[in-house]
Amino acid sequence: MKTPEPPPLGDELSQLLRRMRLPYMRSAAPEVIATAKAQRWDPAEMLRVLLAEEVAGRDRATRAQRRRAAGLPAGKTFDSWIEAKSSIPVPTQSALRTLEWVGRAENLAICGPSGSGKSHFCEAIAHAVIDAGMRVSWFSLESLTATLARAKIDASVSRVVSRICRADLVVVDDIGMLPAGADAAEAFYRVVDAAYERRSLAVTSNIHPSGFDTIMPKSIATAAVDRLLHHAHLVATEGPSVRLEEALAGVGVVALTPSESLRATSPAANQMRNASPTWLGEGTS
Ligand SMILES: Nc1ncnc2c1ncn2[C@@H]1O[C@H](COP(=O)(O)OP(=O)(O)O)[C@@H](O)[C@H]1O
Ligand SMILES: [Mg+2]
Repeated sequence: MKTPEPPPLGDELSQLLRRMRLPYMRSAAPEVIATAKAQRWDPAEMLRVLLAEEVAGRDRATRAQRRRAAGLPAGKTFDSWIEAKSSIPVPTQSALRTLEWVGRAENLAICGPSGSGKSHFCEAIAHAVIDAGMRVSWFSLESLTATLARAKIDASVSRVVSRICRADLVVVDDIGMLPAGADAAEAFYRVVDAAYERRSLAVTSNIHPSGFDTIMPKSIATAAVDRLLHHAHLVATEGPSVRLEEALAGVGVVALTPSESLRATSPAANQMRNASPTWLGEGTS
């Protein structure tokens, strides 16, 4: 059975709530007032519930805004994370998930081969940090380099770096996938230096940080890694690529339906349809 609509707020009350910029209280008020009347609440209880609605609504909006501003890449959270599938020891995962290290402005360096869950784990941590009411700035080394290169044009590098480091957690994903030039090394150093002992920094890489001097100019890499590792949790991931495992198990894609595969009408596609199904490389000795 549908509950009857609560009576709307009077115009004056509605205006006052608008004027005081209490949108969440305004939208909850008709129902809260109706319930309070029906259940004979203490007036103080009604005031408490209305204020709690406003606070909860504002917190939700702040978190949503911070999630947008953080620039997280793939929407990966702990909901889709399988602890047992990761090579990171479960106690280490649990300790990192408490986020206490973020409160202590300690760093996290996750290194390991491609597809071993580095970015997923880091992004899930980043979401958890936002859920806990803190801020995150997410970059790949390339996007960080591009951001600081743009800031160089109008000489706002220091301002941009301090804005980035306003976040409680700064993430630099995928260091070492591509060789980093002097600009990338400088951008990385600037952020590591600005965050040092003030903010948490999380980096992911396919190489151990001590090897960053093989992909960046040595002096700047040494200075950056020195600061990065001073208060850092170093986590190594290993094992076969989860990406590759999923691809080989056929769970990386949604199976094509016959109508979809028939849509391919090129001669090459026809040829492929007519050929007997063989795996690439099979039967061609
Ligand atoms: N422990 C895990 N639980 C669930 N999915 C995982 C896990 N580890 C990796 N994956 C998935 O495998 C893929 C590759 O992981 P990713 O974090 O991008 O690897 P990396 O950054 O190390 O190259 C992603 O789709 C990710 O969601
Ligand atoms: Mg990655």
